[in-house]
Order: sequence, then structure tokens, then C-alpha cells
Amino acid sequence: MEQRYRLGDVLISRGEIAKKTAELAAKVAADTPQDADGNRELIVVGILTGAVFFLTDLVRELPEDMDVRVDFMSVSSYGNETKSSGVVRIFHDLKTNIEGRNVLVVEDIVDTGRTFAYLLELLQSRNPASLRTCVLLDKSARRETEVRVDYCGFNIPDAFVVGCGLDCAGMWRHLKDIRTVRTQS
Ligand code: PRP
Repeated sequence: MEQRYRLGDVLISRGEIAKKTAELAAKVAADTPQDADGNRELIVVGILTGAVFFLTDLVRELPEDMDVRVDFMSVSSYGNETKSSGVVRIFHDLKTNIEGRNVLVVEDIVDTGRTFAYLLELLQSRNPASLRTCVLLDKSARRETEVRVDYCGFNIPDAFVVGCGLDCAGMWRHLKDIRTVRTQS
């Protein structure tokens, strides 16, 4: 039977997201150590595709005197399904050598934690100076694997949500608010 999706209520408004993003950026900046020359370098790693939207807002809230670099990895555990397959596939790896450097991994959402657990282990094996994580949304009630979230925007209930990079079968990533999705058969 064909299942149709409709947008539901606004769960988190664009105003709340913007305010929280600025707060998170301030914390990230304050926690980024200076090197011997007084330089504060940070490699911000976005996990395509969903993290792009939050990441671009986050990095533009970082102080202009920080040395901010941006790179991306492309992985997928969900495909077009709404449930995790449990299998993380890497389609595109970093261009940057992160050894000895401060890294912040940015995600739109942590759900079961499988994607993050896999990625963090992989990135840690490359010996960064520091490895921190920043997520816009945390569905902590659904966690299956323990993962460290250093900076979290919002804890959300176990609802299917879209917007700010989160999609439903590829749709609605571009929405500025986080909204629920209703299904009808
Ligand atoms: C989403 C999200 C995370 C992952 C979180 O990505 O961006 O990467 O799922 O789920 P988990 O904690 O259960 O592993 P998805 O695989 O849907 O790809 P996308 O970013 O391209 O939408």
C-alpha cells in the first residue's frame, strides 16, 4: 500500500534553532585550544547530507579570528528508509589529514548512535589532537550504542522529524523549522 507523508506541527522553531546554534558556537569556540602561536584551528567535519544545513549556520557563528576549516564525509545508514539498516557505508572520505589537529564532527541528528559510533572510531584512529561532537538533535531515547555528544542543540522525543537537513525520503531538508511528519495510508 502506498504511504503518503504530510508535514505536521513545528517542533522547534527557526528562532529557537538560530539562538541555540549561536550558543553552541560560542561554547565550541571557548573550548578550542590555542596552539603555540596563539592560533585556534578547528577542522569542522560535516556528515553529508543532513549535517550541511546546521554546519553552515554553526561555522558562521564562530569568531572570525578562529582558523576554521570545513570538510565533509559522505556516509549513509538509512538510504530512503525511515529505519536504520545498521550498516554504515562510506561514499566519500575526508580530504583533510586530521592527525594532530582539533576536530569537531557535526551531525544533524543522533538516533541509534550507530553512525556516530562507527565514524568516531574511524576518526579517532587517525590520531587527531582532539575529537569533539556537535549535534543539532539528539533522540537519546533510541540510543543503541553509547556515543559521546559534547554539544547538543535539543533532545527530542521519538518522533519522525524533518527540516534543517533532516529528510523524509529526500524531501523537506530545506525547511527552516524542525517539523513532525504524519503518515497516511
Ligand atoms: C542520518 C543522520 C545521521 C544518522 C543518525 O543520516 O544524518 O547520520 O542518520 O542515525 P543513527 O544515530 O541511528 O545512526 P542518513 O543515513 O539518514 O543520511 P542523510 O544525512 O544523507 O539523510
